[in-house]
Amino acid sequence: MFNAVKLKSLLVCSVAVLTACAAHDKATTAAVPTNPTIEAILADLTLEEKAGQLNLINFEGELGETHYQMIRDGKVGSLLKSNGAAQNLKLQKIAVEQSRAGVPILFQEDVIHGYKTIAPIPLAEAASWDIPAIQQSAAIAAREASAGGIQLTYAPMVDMSRDPRWGRIIEAAGEDPYLASLVAAARVKGFQESGEPGQNILATVKHFAGYGASLAGRDYNIQDLSERELREVHLPPFKAAVDADVAAVMVAYTAHDGVPLTANQYMVQGVLQGDLGFNGLIMTDWATIYNLERAGVSANAEDATITAINNSIHMDMAAKKYVELLPQLVRDGKVDERVVDDAVRQVLMLKYKAGLLQDPYGRLNEATEKAELLSAANLAATKEMALKSMVLLKNDQQTLPISDKVQRIAVIGPFANAQKDLMGWWPGLGEAKDVVSIMAGLEAEFGDSVELTYAQGVTIDRFNKAGAELIPEAVKAAEQADMVIMVLGEKEWMSGEGGGTASLHLPGLQEELLQAVAKTNKPIATVIVSGRPYVLTDVAKHSDALLQAWMPGTTGGTAVAEILSGKFNPQAKLPVTFPQHQGQVPIFYSYKKTSHPFVAGITEDRYTTTYRDAPHEPLYPFGFGLSYTNYSYSDIELSSATMTMDGSITASVDVTNTGDVAGREIVQLYLHDKVASVVQPVKLLKDFTILDLSPGETKRAEFVISKDKLAFVGIDYQPTIEAGEFELFIGASSDDVKSTEFTLVE
Ligand code: BGC
Repeated sequence: MFNAVKLKSLLVCSVAVLTACAAHDKATTAAVPTNPTIEAILADLTLEEKAGQLNLINFEGELGETHYQMIRDGKVGSLLKSNGAAQNLKLQKIAVEQSRAGVPILFQEDVIHGYKTIAPIPLAEAASWDIPAIQQSAAIAAREASAGGIQLTYAPMVDMSRDPRWGRIIEAAGEDPYLASLVAAARVKGFQESGEPGQNILATVKHFAGYGASLAGRDYNIQDLSERELREVHLPPFKAAVDADVAAVMVAYTAHDGVPLTANQYMVQGVLQGDLGFNGLIMTDWATIYNLERAGVSANAEDATITAINNSIHMDMAAKKYVELLPQLVRDGKVDERVVDDAVRQVLMLKYKAGLLQDPYGRLNEATEKAELLSAANLAATKEMALKSMVLLKNDQQTLPISDKVQRIAVIGPFANAQKDLMGWWPGLGEAKDVVSIMAGLEAEFGDSVELTYAQGVTIDRFNKAGAELIPEAVKAAEQADMVIMVLGEKEWMSGEGGGTASLHLPGLQEELLQAVAKTNKPIATVIVSGRPYVLTDVAKHSDALLQAWMPGTTGGTAVAEILSGKFNPQAKLPVTFPQHQGQVPIFYSYKKTSHPFVAGITEDRYTTTYRDAPHEPLYPFGFGLSYTNYSYSDIELSSATMTMDGSITASVDVTNTGDVAGREIVQLYLHDKVASVVQPVKLLKDFTILDLSPGETKRAEFVISKDKLAFVGIDYQPTIEAGEFELFIGASSDDVKSTEFTLVE
């Protein structure tokens, strides 16, 4: 998989000598995709126009003469944040009909979890483990975005994060590389193969690579990753996206091993283009060429520009350095024009793939736009996705679904009426007014059959502890009700980019509010609206039922109501560990074996891998999620207790729905290599299957184990398989499994 020899040779190239290391090879490489249409356009472009093709600028505010003129001058290759069929048609006509070379603009946008119909945040979608549904969700976003005049999205974001302090944990698929890889590929396919030509958009996998390891959860911080962690944890979803034929890659803001990704030749040319075999377009993140100066690795803008272009960074987002500096740098002999040409080829290839070189006006049509955005079909599919993504974390005494006997419900909390917050960070063009709040969802679901009263409980503005004066009214509402639905969480701006948080407790006075309401002894079902795992230890203690609703999007309130009423039986499972204590972070299920034991709870034996003041176990483990029914698992049956290198074995369990409602169970397979040349995780997800089970029904889950599931990143960073004993686990979560063993023989 990885080319270690090539990587080692690249390792000797420092930033200072990047130019010499890479430029000539890149200029003569045959790997740059091209075709006669592209070559003809390239041959016609002036040096200034070539630099213009590499320029991606932000469309700020109103249409202005400055933009028009830049486009006429051939200085705008692509635009970001310019939306709407009418607007983009107007701009495209200027590019095609009024610029000398007439090359169309590529319109780009952050279509992260929906365009106008906003889907649950990506972390929530991953909780569905429903790969076809995730692909469909991306396809809906693509169809809406293309109708809105967009041809390329900055998604999927696949940065692995195991630190919920990092706000951007909301944008990816959780902590596990296997699940995240399946999600990454599905999202690429969803965007790029969403429907008829013209309905697809190009995908950009980001942020290459390791950004999710930003130190201490602070955004844009450096990452300090071992080569092993990079390859075991962070690269697999990028590889999955590349294998799914993703069109573009965006490099991260961060520095890897001391070198910002934009300048990091080892990572970009060695790992991305070399090991992963990516030969498409590579773009900067926002002004990262300029950031090379800020980070102190380039002395000035010219050096930064030379470094970036020679590192196969083909498109300059927002820094405007390529358009301003490249022509002169080429004339001065400081940049080889062939390197610029290869970058232009990449940009033109994207335009070709988007169909712009064939038909620049493509789908830019207001009638299509009107029919597609927020269509009934898109809303219905997005609600299904939201239903599939909400995780039931606790349900004592069958508090949920809400019983027919309940006549009066107090709905309490600062997020009960929220609309904007349900969309989360990167809401696309979503508008708060189109979002069904949880209160509105409950009203529609229960109609006149239940009396609903609302109390805000506390206020959430910034992280202040505000609104204590509202608590008594909330307590009174609870006293007068048969049960309470608490809706707690975080504002949309509290997570997402720049949304780092030091405290993992719910912001403001929300925990205090819950405690005050709990004193009424009314049954409490708490719904959490958040983009990240919070420490819900006390929240769970004071709640009879707990539903992690994430930031569920436009139809989120309807989905919450349908789960609380029992119309939909929850089935989602956590794609990320929920800590019990914030000091446990980073916490994840696939921790490595250590010399000293992990002991559950708090032990008097200090020579253990535990804390002295808190347990090391999570509150809710990876893969966990309850249902309104129960499932029982048989012991595991193996087709054979030994497996040969070229053979395979089958592991099966019978899963029975032992309750009285139909349900869907996500059955998970984990493996552990008992003795290996590299320390192994105690358990690693290798497969899963989803079973629909009627009450009383039993179905068999079968998993085929072949040697690819037994490979690990070896001492030499190559895929390695070693004979010996393996533990195999099948169960309902990473912490609730049956186990057996088998032996791999040479
Ligand atoms: C983010 C990217 C995003 C870009 C354009 C950056 O700040 O890191 O993820 O695609 O802005 O909006």
